[in-house]
Amino acid sequence: MARMIRHEACDPIKIEPQDKPIFICACGLTQNFPYCDGSHSAARREQAGRLCIYDKTRTEVVEERDDSDA
Ligand code: FES
Repeated sequence: MARMIRHEACDPIKIEPQDKPIFICACGLTQNFPYCDGSHSAARREQAGRLCIYDKTRTEVVEERDDSDA
């Protein structure tokens, strides 16, 4: 079974429950979920109106499609 999860955020969510900020991944590309690891820089290269499908490692775009829901 496989699923495609739609993430449109390109930056992490900042929370400050302690004495220093914690960044929670909102783009879905992190290798250290739920924490941001900087992988969101790839999401910033995505073009509006395109649906990007990443490989299993979430590091390479393997397919792009028109995004009719955009
Ligand atoms: S927001 Fe996902 S890796 Fe930073």
